[in-house]
Amino acid sequence: MHNIPVLTIDGPAGSGKGTIVEHVAKELGWHILDSGALYRIVAVAAEKKNIAFDDDDRLAALAEKLDAVFLPCKGGGVEVHLEGDDVSEAIRTEDCGCAASKVAANKGVRKALLERQRNYLLSPGLVADGRDMGTVVFPNAFAKIFLTASAEERAKRRFKQLNEKGLNVTLAALILDIQERDLRDMNRAEAPLKAADDAITIDTSDLSIDEVITKVLAVVREKK
Ligand code: C5P
Repeated sequence: MHNIPVLTIDGPAGSGKGTIVEHVAKELGWHILDSGALYRIVAVAAEKKNIAFDDDDRLAALAEKLDAVFLPCKGGGVEVHLEGDDVSEAIRTEDCGCAASKVAANKGVRKALLERQRNYLLSPGLVADGRDMGTVVFPNAFAKIFLTASAEERAKRRFKQLNEKGLNVTLAALILDIQERDLRDMNRAEAPLKAADDAITIDTSDLSIDEVITKVLAVVREKK
């Protein structure tokens, strides 16, 4: 199992991880772990069951037996199901991202999801997307990337994405959301958002998606 290569891609909300991970994984023919989706699903499940976002014991129990599946769609992309219900859209809202970041600050929740995340490590390789992939979940990953971009640039990207989906948001509100989420993710006691010591940081503020993909693939080739 330890011979299966892992590429970790960590970074703050809106740094472009999702898109980059998708393209890079396709190029390499590797699996994807979208760890943020797991925290988002726990948040949706907690809301459904009326569990407070700081009730670590109940949240941890919930995360431990989380009945969540990712179903690959024929035309690409994945459908996310929670207890049989399609929550693919519900987990992608900005509110759910904020709720996930509150849920993710709980120690028991992180512990409960650790093994589940490691189980995604399947041949021929894994691209792991998150906040603590290189620091906690896969510390022995052969290549680690940390993607950053200014809060304003990240908010602009989110704005575009959410607008395209027809969701009603303002840029000002998104900048505030992103700053609040960054602060919570960077300052929490458990697995705070930070680059692993051996990660390569790429600032994507002034780069196109293609340029970032090329840089990431160059890192992978160099490490191989
Ligand atoms: O990446 P995404 O925006 O889907 O993540 C939602 C939230 O889940 C993040 O703001 C973060 O608080 C939390 N998260 C985490 N650790 C991960 C992935 C996500 O704490 N590995």
